[in-house]
Amino acid sequence: MKIFRPEFFGGVLYDSQTLRFRLVQELNEEPDVVLPPPSKVIRKDILSAPVRAYFELTRRCNLACKHCFVSSSPKAPIGESTSNLIRIIDDLADNRVIDVRFTGGELTTRPDWFEVLKHAKNRGLQISVNTNGIYLNLKDVMAKLTDLKVNQVTISIDGAEINHDFMRGKGSFRKAITSLIALSKIGIPVRTNTVLTRRNAKDVPQILETVHPYVLEANFFHMRPVGRGVNQNHLSLSYEEHYHSAKETLALRKKYPKLSIMHFEQSYRERSVSKKDTSKLDDNFSHGNTTINIDCFGGVWPNGYNTYQDNRQLLGNLVTERLSDIWNFSEKLDGLRAWYKAIFSRCQRCPEYLSQCPGLSPEMRIAEINQNVNNNFCINTDEPVPKLYGNFVK
Ligand SMILES: C[S@@+](CC[C@H](N)C(=O)[O-])C[C@H]1O[C@@H](n2cnc3c(N)ncnc32)[C@H](O)[C@@H]1O
Ligand code: SF4
Repeated sequence: MKIFRPEFFGGVLYDSQTLRFRLVQELNEEPDVVLPPPSKVIRKDILSAPVRAYFELTRRCNLACKHCFVSSSPKAPIGESTSNLIRIIDDLADNRVIDVRFTGGELTTRPDWFEVLKHAKNRGLQISVNTNGIYLNLKDVMAKLTDLKVNQVTISIDGAEINHDFMRGKGSFRKAITSLIALSKIGIPVRTNTVLTRRNAKDVPQILETVHPYVLEANFFHMRPVGRGVNQNHLSLSYEEHYHSAKETLALRKKYPKLSIMHFEQSYRERSVSKKDTSKLDDNFSHGNTTINIDCFGGVWPNGYNTYQDNRQLLGNLVTERLSDIWNFSEKLDGLRAWYKAIFSRCQRCPEYLSQCPGLSPEMRIAEINQNVNNNFCINTDEPVPKLYGNFVK
């Protein structure tokens, strides 16, 4: 299904099958759904609202993975009340946000997860789910996901069995694969996420061979030194290792032509917004330009990793504030948008950007500044990195 959301320059054209979107000045195809135009044009340098919200429903999890950037565990906080989560979803829908990616923690550990997602569905939002695939009652979760008609479920597969279980706990690989097969059997589009490390990077061919009959997309990306990930930094890929991993992984596209295989920076280039058709919008970086992150207490952030890196990046709270106020009037968000733009322009001037460089991530830069962790990936040492904390973060 194609969904069109009008904007002052044209609009956002969203494909509910691929979950990808483009900003377009003119429509060359007939959309299935046209959302209402913005009630008033407040600014002409940003979209009227995010296209996508990443919504962490809970920090609690039935696992406690070694690398978890959220530091989730069975003891982590559950998050806001059902009624507050529902209010936030209403705010997103009222602002014409198109899709919500629900994540956690493990959202299926919240007794009300189905009720919250059902509300989102009833409000016309496109919904997808990030999950570890470990369920007390597989049948019950499958029935609920079928009822919800979720657009996509992403299951984490962090290596071949031995390496997945090393990171995620004994027995978790088998359970995740069982869930993945069950989802595919009931016709739900499945994607896998793999966090690459020195232990599991060689497992990519084996992962693809195992999952390819059941999934539409396999996504590989590097481990961020955030949350418990900081303790696993010794397993972080070096620039060369990442480069080779990207080359080898993308070469496997030939072997699995029906599978969409994404390696971190390719996802940025191929999945996100195409700038070709748009005017002068600052949409190079999705964070705070086309997407927003919400934590399980309603906190709004420009990026999900920042939530666990630096609380100075908290933009507001949707339990007490409205999304449109934060989106349009937050000076902090404008400062971060400008910073992302500066990082992006620096990368565009770097010859490495067009090879396999994953250096262009704000969270890696913040890890360098705040956590004193090396960013292995940015080898463009000739050009100074734009300063983060200028005058916009108090
Ligand atoms: C925090 S989890 C929440 C969803 C679910 N519990 C799961 O594990 O899939 C969301 C995604 O972040 C990934 N992740 C966890 N720690 C990470 C880290 N340090 N760096 C990058 N990604 C990480 C997980 O593997 C998963 O794909
Ligand atoms: S990565 Fe996912 S499954 Fe693992 S502890 Fe974190 S939230 Fe739980």
